[in-house]
Amino acid sequence: MLTHQKIEILDSTLREGEQTPGVSFSLAQKVTLAKRLDTFGLDFIELGHPAVSPDVYEAVETLNDLDLNANKMGHGRANKSDINDCVAIGVKWMGIFFGTSLLSLKHKFNVSKLEALDRIESAIKYGKDKGLKLRFTAEDASRTDMDFLIQVGQLVQKAGADRFSLADTVGCLTPTQTKKIVGRIVSELDIPVHVHCHNDFGMATANALSALEVGAQCVDVSVNGLGERCGLPPLAEVVIALSNIYKINGPWKLGMIPELTRLVESFSNLEPNSNQPIVGKNAFTHKAGLHVKAVVKEPKSYEAISPEIVNRTRHFVIDKFSGKVALKNRLLEIGLKISKFDLIKILKEIKSQPEKVNWTDKELRHLYEIVLKEG
Ligand code: COA
Ligand code: ZN
Repeated sequence: MLTHQKIEILDSTLREGEQTPGVSFSLAQKVTLAKRLDTFGLDFIELGHPAVSPDVYEAVETLNDLDLNANKMGHGRANKSDINDCVAIGVKWMGIFFGTSLLSLKHKFNVSKLEALDRIESAIKYGKDKGLKLRFTAEDASRTDMDFLIQVGQLVQKAGADRFSLADTVGCLTPTQTKKIVGRIVSELDIPVHVHCHNDFGMATANALSALEVGAQCVDVSVNGLGERCGLPPLAEVVIALSNIYKINGPWKLGMIPELTRLVESFSNLEPNSNQPIVGKNAFTHKAGLHVKAVVKEPKSYEAISPEIVNRTRHFVIDKFSGKVALKNRLLEIGLKISKFDLIKILKEIKSQPEKVNWTDKELRHLYEIVLKEG
């Protein structure tokens, strides 16, 4: 399904992730995350945009000194000051961005297309003269006129940019549109193409994967999908889709996914979402009796992803939706043998208490004793 071999992942938890409302990571948290993300196995880690604040500047300096396998990337605007920051810090890679849609040109910059091209070209040349490896991002690429987008891509390529990134800044693309835009840009350029998708319509992961299908080389992700508004494609969704659906044998330590999720949950103070794919509390929990019966026999009946590959375990909930097999299985797990007659009595009791949505072992044991005493 993926037509080319090289697939790269850029993690933006430390950069865009910190743009999540309510989030500000300490230096120590950023160092911990950078090290664990690196162990997980990523191609790029964005360190931050030094111009934002003194603490972000200091973090980029400290993170850049870490001995990581991933390429470390600073972030900044298409101006000398932001480029000088990255040069002064000594970061090897810099991501330079500039809004290319008419909306950006008019309302953010009040410049003509020609003036925008001139600013972009000057920034790339300046950064290259200073020895940086550069990824140029066309911000709001998804709402940029295609001919102009190609013009920008060709210009930055000629000016020496090493990568061209397309940002679906407001997350408005569908997978079909993503394929059309990304496929066209890939065919027009020789440098690798990156994509930065946003999740405003819940399509960030689908769009990122669609971009890879038509030849993009690198996709941006963040742990738990952190980022502006509705965030980026979550790291877990992208790597598990790549390994499970696309059968890509990446360098990723999939078993670390729960640990990364918990770390970022605790550092970001954001409520975890129970039904989040792969990392949510419910991702490997089955409830309906018919499902549980089938899963007890063959987990694949209701699981596209095995919990073991991400170091998680399968759970079954007991409540009014349970059936005989689900209940018997649970009672056996807690060491309680039961006749069919008593099993049906207990199940009837459970079904008469709809307000109880997750019977605990203790409650089941208690109910078992009552039913058996009644005879
Ligand atoms: N390339 C070049 N210049 C850009 C730019 C780009 N991609 N994007 C914005 N600018 C310019 C604007 O034209 C404006 O310039 P002006 O001051 O000459 O009008 C300025 O940057 C941004 O305005 P403002 O945010 O009010 O400036 P500021 O100097 O107070 O703060 C930041 C600038 C970057 C320090 C501040 O906005 C910040 O901390 N931002 C967080 C990071 C961020 O916004 N990231 C977005 C990533 S997609
Ligand atoms: Zn973004």
